[in-house]
Amino acid sequence: MKNLKIAIQKSGRLNEKSVQLLKNCGLNFENYKSSLITTVGNFPLEILFLRDDDIPGYVAQGIADLGIVGENVIDETQAQVEYVQRLGFGKCNLKLAIPKDSDIQDLKDLNGKAIATSYPVILQQFLDEYKIKAEIREISGSVEISPGLGLADAICDIVSTGGTLKSNGLKPFADVRSSEAILVGNKNLLGNPILTELLQRIQSVLLAKE
Ligand code: PRP
Ligand code: ZN
Ligand code: MG
Repeated sequence: MKNLKIAIQKSGRLNEKSVQLLKNCGLNFENYKSSLITTVGNFPLEILFLRDDDIPGYVAQGIADLGIVGENVIDETQAQVEYVQRLGFGKCNLKLAIPKDSDIQDLKDLNGKAIATSYPVILQQFLDEYKIKAEIREISGSVEISPGLGLADAICDIVSTGGTLKSNGLKPFADVRSSEAILVGNKNLLGNPILTELLQRIQSVLLAKE
């Protein structure tokens, strides 16, 4: 049977815990250095190290069979993937944040303002829900510096420890949604025996942690 491919985050909040989960499943592999693909020695699996934003699309297209990625990224890309297992790590919140000295006090104060984010789809849904008309400025990274540069009045980004907000002079203002790491799979993968075996191991690791 042909190896399955699982995509995990190359660097960022989910990388280390994704690697740790797979190692705790008894899989032997080298952590990537320059090669962005590695083969597991004792299990029919290859690991691809990708940007998290690309993972849902790759899984939906079948370029990767499985992926470990934040729920927020799955929803943002609107990729058609199956939720295989919630993983209980990478918990965070997508929040609106504003400069510490901002005069924005209420959601309605966002009307007419510019908000920088890497999550324009989710943010637009949120703004529509609260009937707010604001300008969304899509930025692919380092969103937290945009208010300081005069590019935006507020941001909407992932907050975990809150350290990034703080060190950029921002404060949380409103919760948009929560998120955690999810194991997703391609639709055609259900019933695959390699996935069944991997999932059993993952579930044992998660149970042992409880
Ligand atoms: C998020 C967010 C911040 C950081 C916040 O990035 O964009 O950079 O985490 O974490 P903190 O509250 O603990 O400081 P993410 O890991 O999602 O990576 P990416 O934006 O590079 O995809
Ligand atoms: Zn990302
Ligand atoms: Mg980031």
